[in-house]
Amino acid sequence: MTHPRFACIVGARPNFMKMAPLLRALGAHPGVETVLVHTGQHYDKNLSDVFFEELEMKRPDVSLDVGSGSHAQQTARVLERFEEVLQNAAAEGKPFNRVIVVGDVNSTMATTLAAVKLGVPVAHVEAGLRSFDRTMPEEINRILTDAVADLLFVSEPAGMENLRNEGHREEELKLVGNVMIDTLLTLLPKARSRDTLARLGVAPGGYGLVTLHRPANVDRPETLGPMLDVLAETARRLPLVFPIHPRTRARIAGFGLADRLDAAGIVQTEPLGYLDFLALSSQARVIVTDSGGLQEESTVLGIPCLTARPNTERPITVEQGTSTLVGSDAAKLRACLAAVLDGTYKQGACPALWDGRAAERIAEILVES
Ligand code: UD1
Repeated sequence: MTHPRFACIVGARPNFMKMAPLLRALGAHPGVETVLVHTGQHYDKNLSDVFFEELEMKRPDVSLDVGSGSHAQQTARVLERFEEVLQNAAAEGKPFNRVIVVGDVNSTMATTLAAVKLGVPVAHVEAGLRSFDRTMPEEINRILTDAVADLLFVSEPAGMENLRNEGHREEELKLVGNVMIDTLLTLLPKARSRDTLARLGVAPGGYGLVTLHRPANVDRPETLGPMLDVLAETARRLPLVFPIHPRTRARIAGFGLADRLDAAGIVQTEPLGYLDFLALSSQARVIVTDSGGLQEESTVLGIPCLTARPNTERPITVEQGTSTLVGSDAAKLRACLAAVLDGTYKQGACPALWDGRAAERIAEILVES
C-alpha cells in the first residue's frame, strides 16, 4: 500500500495502552499516516488525559466527545459521529484505507460498524477472545467486531481457535502477541522508579492491589456487599490498595456501603494513572481484580492474580499464567489468599509472543495489507 491512511480508534481507559505502541510502530514506517480518533467514552482526567501524557502518545486528531450514557445511547452517538468523520475524509479526497480498533469497549464495536457499512475495512487488535458469557457487554462487542472486521490480530492461541470455530478464513487471522504487554515492558523501569508506594504508605511485596468495576460485581448490593466484606477481612492480614473506578464509587455510595471500606488497612484512591498503577501492580504481593487487562499484566509480572469473575476470555492467564478464577466466592478468595500468604500459590509462565514486539509485527502486516 503506498501512503496508507489509517484511522486509529481509542475510547476508554484500556484502549490507550494498546494503541500507544501501535501508533509508534506505524510511525516508524515512512509514508504511513495515522489519524487518532478519541470517541470520548472516557473523559475524566484520570481515566483519559493522564494516559496521553504518560504513554507519550500524540493528542487525538479528532474528538467525538460522546461521553457517558446507556449502551444504546453511547453506541448510537459513536456511530453517527464517526460515520461523519469517515464521510468527510472521503469528501475531502483523503479517504481512510483502514480503521484500526483495539479491545472490546463500546467504542470498538460502534466505530467498526460505522466503518464496514461505508466499505472501509477494519483491523481488530485483540481479536478472538471469548468468555462465552453473553451477559457481559464486552462479549457482545467482541463477537460483533470480529464478525465484520477482515484482519484479526490475536494475542493467544485460544483466540485463533475461537475465530476458526466461528468460520473465519485462515488468511484473516494473525497470531501476533499482546500489544498491551509492549507498553508494560517499555514503561516498567520508569514505573518502578516512582515514589508511588511510599506515597501510599505500603512496602514492596507487602500489600495487595484491588480493582473492581464490572457490572456483574458492582451493580447489585447483594454481590458488592459481601465482596467488600472479604476485602475488609483480608486487610487485617495484608494491607490493600484499592483505586476505585467511578462506576464502583457511585455504586458503593448509592447502596450505602461506604462504611464497609473504612476498615483499617484499606487504602482507597481515585483511579490512578498508568505509571502509578504499574508501580503498584508490579510490586504487589497479590492482585484481586475483575479487569481483563490486569489478568494479562499480572501474568507477565509473575504476580498472583485472583480474578473475581466466573469465567475469562483470556484462558492462557489461568492455564499458563498466575491467575485463578475465584468468581464472587468469598471462601475461594479466602483460600487463594491464604495460599499466596503461605507461599504455596502456583507459579506462572509468560505466554509466547508476549515479548514487547507485538505492535511491530502488526505494523508490518498493516503496511503490507
Ligand atoms: C468501560 C468498558 C469496559 C472497560 C472499562 C474500563 C464498555 C461496555 N465497557 O466500562 O470494558 O473495562 O471501560 O474502565 O465499553 N464515568 C466517569 N468518567 C469517565 C467515564 C465514565 O465518571 O470518564 C462513569 C459514568 O458514570 C459512566 C460510568 O462511569 O456512566 C461507566 O462508564 P462506561 O464508559 O459506560 O463504562 P465503564 O464501566 O467505564
